[in-house]
Amino acid sequence: MSAPTRATARPPAPAAVIRRPPRVSNVTARVVMAGTGTVFTLFVVVHMVGNLKVYLGREHFDDYAHWLRTLLEPLMPYEGVLWVLRVVLAVSLVAHLGCGALLWRRARRARGPFRRRRLGWRTFSARTMPVTGIVLLLFLVFHVLDLTTGTAPAASSGYDRETAATSAAYENLVASFDRPAVSAFYLLAMAVLGLHLLHGLWSVVNDLGVTGQRSRQVAAVAGGTVAGLVFLGNASIPVAVLVGVVS
Ligand code: HEM
Repeated sequence: MSAPTRATARPPAPAAVIRRPPRVSNVTARVVMAGTGTVFTLFVVVHMVGNLKVYLGREHFDDYAHWLRTLLEPLMPYEGVLWVLRVVLAVSLVAHLGCGALLWRRARRARGPFRRRRLGWRTFSARTMPVTGIVLLLFLVFHVLDLTTGTAPAASSGYDRETAATSAAYENLVASFDRPAVSAFYLLAMAVLGLHLLHGLWSVVNDLGVTGQRSRQVAAVAGGTVAGLVFLGNASIPVAVLVGVVS
């Protein structure tokens, strides 16, 4: 029997893998998500408070639409502040979508074929973030065509474009929600928004590095309260139009 041969040659050294740091680090992407998410949260809360003016009557609601456009006049031109807000929201949206997609792709690649088995409400809202985000994006496109630009078929046939910004805001809103399918879509979108906010606000708390158990509990309750109030406040409006409380 021949003696076992000893390997004399060493296996070739693996080629050095030079990994360049990604252009946008995960930390930067998370900070952008948290910052832009906070901008959106502030916007939806303020927007909901403005929307609730519909319960004060036609005049209050139309005055509010007009006031939005004449803010800081004559220092700013007509709709000046509104346009600043639109640009801030548009830039935030692009950054939020871009960083969200980036983090989602990296997390998927890092996780490989392994998926978390436990399915609580938190895992559910976390896992559905990309889907709820896309639904919200579709809602936003529909919503702007419906109530801001008055573009068919999203807008109702009764949309008054001429005086939409001054004396027809209330009328246009009621004409839109008088369509049950559109109201149902708004209700669905508000539920999706609630779910997205619930996890989004929880992520902001984590990104800020809140670690104390008590502080995390308080933050979870605060985030849930904001998400719940935004859902209830907004969802009440199409329901109020459908049952005739707002007409
Ligand atoms: C039932 C819930 C909602 C109602 C009743 C509502 C109502 C309105 C109305 C009446 C306008 C037109 C305002 C004007 O031109 O003076 C408007 C515009 C807008 N809404 Fe909403 N909204 C709702 C939910 C949302 C949500 C959840 C978002 C964000 C995710 C949103 C984002 C916007 C944006 C971006 C505009 C356009 C503002 C502009 O460029 O003039 N809305 N909404």
